Amino acid sequence: MRKVIIAGNWKMNKTLSESIELANLIKRSLYDMTEIEVVICPPYTSLSDVSEIVRDSAVKLGAQDVHWEKEGAFTGEVSCSMLKSVGCEYVIIGHSERRQFFGETNETVNKKAKAALAAGLRPIVCVGEKLGEREEGKTFDVVKDHVENSLAGLSKDEMLRVVIAYEPVWAIGTGVNATKEQAEEVHAYIRRLLKKKYDDSTARLVRIQYGGSVKPDNISQLIGQEDVDGALVGGASLKADSFIDIVKGCLK
Ligand code: 13P
Repeated sequence: MRKVIIAGNWKMNKTLSESIELANLIKRSLYDMTEIEVVICPPYTSLSDVSEIVRDSAVKLGAQDVHWEKEGAFTGEVSCSMLKSVGCEYVIIGHSERRQFFGETNETVNKKAKAALAAGLRPIVCVGEKLGEREEGKTFDVVKDHVENSLAGLSKDEMLRVVIAYEPVWAIGTGVNATKEQAEEVHAYIRRLLKKKYDDSTARLVRIQYGGSVKPDNISQLIGQEDVDGALVGGASLKADSFIDIVKGCLK
């Protein structure tokens, strides 16, 4: 069985004191939430302090990006071992905002995913089409390109440690979420791609999250779909109440 995973992507929000406040509220409510895997991904500047807060609780820590090199002259970048050293278990890779604004490509996503896996981190690899691509009927082509090339060359064991996040770009931060049918259609397609590339059991075990305007009032519909195994939450993860409600909404 696939365990539901809800991750909060705080993006470029929350100062250190704000992060501490939010992490404390989340931990207070979800410290013993073992039915659902809960991950919070604060900005780099807050990772260390938030790590101390969620330590010894069921809440796990993730980062929002990572560089593939081990160390060296890469000003502004952060390595896998640095993330491990502050208690990260997960790292988001290839978010559409990084693809759109910071030149991230399938090739760099692939390098980052491999480096993360080699370092013992679990990558949450984001894929998804833009509005124009959907309107032109290219959704499956774009998703196939992202899945096959961002995850190229991964062994079966490595693939089992990856979480795929399907985030249609048109649904991110817009308040317009994919319908449960739209999400399920793409998730099932991703699972078919994994079956073709690996085998049936691998395809059945890999978790596929949905992301894009997930809110407390739409999570239960989305999570009710056969191939939707969780959510990557942006805006609604910035308030403790809505994030906690989303996690609890998966229990019903
Ligand atoms: P929103 O939940 O704000 O739409 O953001 C989704 C997202 O990009 C999560 O990574």
